[in-house]
Amino acid sequence: METNLKNKRVLVTGGNSGLGAAIARGFAAEGAHVAINYVAHPEATEAMVRAITESGGKALGVPADIADAKSVTAMFATLDAAWGGIDVLVNNAGIDGTQAPAWEADPASWGKVIDINLKGAFLCAREALRRMVGQKSGVILNLSSVHEVIAWSGYSAYTASKAGVAMMAKTMAQEAAPHGVRVLCIAPGAIRTPINRAVWDDPEGYKDLLTKIPLGRIGEPEDIARMAVVLASDIASYVTATTVFVDGGMTDYPSFAHGG
Ligand code: BGC
Repeated sequence: METNLKNKRVLVTGGNSGLGAAIARGFAAEGAHVAINYVAHPEATEAMVRAITESGGKALGVPADIADAKSVTAMFATLDAAWGGIDVLVNNAGIDGTQAPAWEADPASWGKVIDINLKGAFLCAREALRRMVGQKSGVILNLSSVHEVIAWSGYSAYTASKAGVAMMAKTMAQEAAPHGVRVLCIAPGAIRTPINRAVWDDPEGYKDLLTKIPLGRIGEPEDIARMAVVLASDIASYVTATTVFVDGGMTDYPSFAHGG
């Protein structure tokens, strides 16, 4: 089956590490032009751009703080100038935040999670939709999380941001569908990336994590990248306004495999 993503202009936020990097590489492998947004580690971005370019692809590093409206507007202006617009936005950038029960949470760090995960996704989608609605085509993929539906003690900002992203995406999908634009979410479970290294790097944490995953393994970034490529492609041209869970069954209540 053909993805037909060759020469499509793709922006991946937080594209220089973790899931974002795997997703950016996945699109580049399909011949898409990939813009890699980042806030830190320019050297990691440069290395990715070099690797993609050397293998015959097209890539561009675009620094921007996605929580800042002006910075996002400037990033899209850069894309317009370089490639004349955008076909696929992958809203990937995000943080887990500081673990604390709500009654001990610091409002500033709580707000930072919302600013990056939810407001940042909105600001980028807003700019992308302006262009996509005009050209009557485009796809916006939001990386939510299993925590758009699974509560997670210590992470009320994170869960709120991800549930928010899911409903924001559905609303945008409703608005944009008549204009030929699809908006949807991928909800990853536990994937081996720097964001949760402290858990999978620790034998006890890893053992506990596996009890939460029916398929019995932690996910790899490529598990998410493959789904991102498929959902952004015409293979999924009838899919919008929904969340696709890529979680090894984490949302299947594995603790109910016995008892109850
Ligand atoms: C979080 C990870 C966590 C996973 C499963 C993700 O959304 O970013 O830290 O391991 O959910 O709980």
